Amino acid sequence: MKFYITTPIYYVNDEPHLGHAYTTILADVLKKYHRKLGEETYFLTGTDEHGQKVQEAADKYGVTPLEHCDKMALRFRNLWTKLQIENDDFIRTTEERHLIEVKKILQYIMDKGKIYADEFEGWYCVSDERFWTEKDLKEGNCPLCGREVRQMSERNYFFKMSEYQDWLIDHINSHPEFILPEHRRNEVLGFLRQPLKDLCISRPKSRLSWGIDLPFDADYVTYVWFDALLNYYSAVKAKGLWPADVHLIGKDILTTHCVYWPIMLKAADLQLPRTIFAHGWWLIEAEKMSKSRGNVVKPLELADRYGVDSFRYFLMRDMAPGQDASFSEAMMVNRINTDLANDFGNMLSRVTRLIKVNFNGLTPEGDDSPEWRELAESVILSVKESIENFRLDEALKAAMNLIVRANRYLEETAPWKLVKTDKKSAGAVLYNALEALRLSASLLEPVMPNKMRETLNRMNNGDAEWRWGVLKPGTKIEMGDALFPRIEYKPPAISEKKKEEVMPDIAVIDDFKKLQLRVAEIMTAEPVAGADKLYKLQIDIGGEQRQIIAGIAQHYKLDELPGKKIIVIVNLEKAVIRGVESQGMLLAAQAGKTMKLLTIDGDLPAGAKIS
Ligand code: MSP
Repeated sequence: MKFYITTPIYYVNDEPHLGHAYTTILADVLKKYHRKLGEETYFLTGTDEHGQKVQEAADKYGVTPLEHCDKMALRFRNLWTKLQIENDDFIRTTEERHLIEVKKILQYIMDKGKIYADEFEGWYCVSDERFWTEKDLKEGNCPLCGREVRQMSERNYFFKMSEYQDWLIDHINSHPEFILPEHRRNEVLGFLRQPLKDLCISRPKSRLSWGIDLPFDADYVTYVWFDALLNYYSAVKAKGLWPADVHLIGKDILTTHCVYWPIMLKAADLQLPRTIFAHGWWLIEAEKMSKSRGNVVKPLELADRYGVDSFRYFLMRDMAPGQDASFSEAMMVNRINTDLANDFGNMLSRVTRLIKVNFNGLTPEGDDSPEWRELAESVILSVKESIENFRLDEALKAAMNLIVRANRYLEETAPWKLVKTDKKSAGAVLYNALEALRLSASLLEPVMPNKMRETLNRMNNGDAEWRWGVLKPGTKIEMGDALFPRIEYKPPAISEKKKEEVMPDIAVIDDFKKLQLRVAEIMTAEPVAGADKLYKLQIDIGGEQRQIIAGIAQHYKLDELPGKKIIVIVNLEKAVIRGVESQGMLLAAQAGKTMKLLTIDGDLPAGAKIS
């Protein structure tokens, strides 16, 4: 059986972060599991290299776009090597093999009459270089940057996506495994309740030149998604591996993969992938990771600090694929210490030491215990089922359950005492405990390839087979150093400069008393002409209305503000900001580029004093 799995191809401009590492490790772990189960696996990842942003970055650095991509793609490749990712292929959308297939498919769909040219009218934002529909606009302005937009028309090519809507709905309904998990499938079906529009698949070269030429009109390049999605096919076309078994994606790219992509394939008369699985997001303090928020987690640093295996284990164990999960370094350290250092590592040291001291370091005779055999069989079954269902967290929990049970069994049977009265029984206990370690190591090997291989090597005949009773009595057991040394977590030190920011000179209570702070309710919010960071707010401070100017425009939308109860200093000197009077100052907290308003915990009327 073949198993062809892919990750999204990542934008070259972004520095690889935790989210990219997560999807790629998940794909790698699934590949390794399926290989272990005897399937022929093929794992593809790569980089998405065309588009506006790449062109701009290359211009900025004064290099050609391809030179820029060469450099950036390498960062992903190096990270994958470091994280023990065994991808069989790495596709770049600037490669010849890809360009050829994209052009062939575009021509094929054109010849079939499913692509047409049309004049396109819309609201164009010069700064973001993109079109918006009337209903996208926010108060008549660009919803992205808030700047003015203008009516513009442009000739472009369109793909007749709308013709395939009913076919796609039928396909999704008749193939329950096509979009997983189920709630994502429902989301796509929900999206398909609205009429589908045709897809604009070109950009005039006058606006964007860094793309693949349309084979039927050299004045245009292909829209980046019509190019990127085809990587999954172009990479394996020559090898005859299409269709893919699993496309792993994050929930952010659901529509492109579950609506555009199947329709593109159908129009090209190509087979559809078996499953598209959308996982959730790693969130940092409930927020999405992004450069602009300044909360990007760097996988390379974590792998260096805590070890590649432990990092992989945490990511697989602490996200239920399909749901979002929270990331914090403290949580990661806690998971590593609990599962790996305490449970697994300590048990390995304990059992091997007892065997060394009492059995000359040789594997003792087992007792062919039916309880242990049954437990092992049920764990193996549950690991297999969890892998089929993409529940890696459950698979790891099941494998670790063997260790939890074996630790309890050691406590109950106390072989260190038993050995003095009944050496044979003590030996059987240690055999079962060692075999539990061996089996769980072999179940966990796809996630922690180095440490679990080392564990098996210490047992000298620890084949990575998934069945009970593999260890051979009489075999030499090695004792080694602690497999997962306990980690002391130190929250990142605050630099001297930061300390000054966080802790200014000591204030005496009278300093504080000078400030009059009140709860205020925001009544209205408006932009300030010519100042894209400022809003003009009318606030109620308890029977009195005030106007204040606040630098929060990049952090809150106008319609989010009315009704919010905020904290305001009301006895500040009046100020005139950009020609507008401001009478007071609101309080907000900032971390990196994220800013949040201070509010009250519960409801108090506007005007309430803060002391
Ligand atoms: N280039 C497109 C994909 C084209 S595929 C034909 C793209 N690239 S991306 O660099 O933005 O990567 C998006 C993917 O990165 C997500 O789908 C997901 O796999 C991963 N993640 C990005 N941020 C993430 C989290 N915060 N958490 C988990 N994974 C996320 O979109």
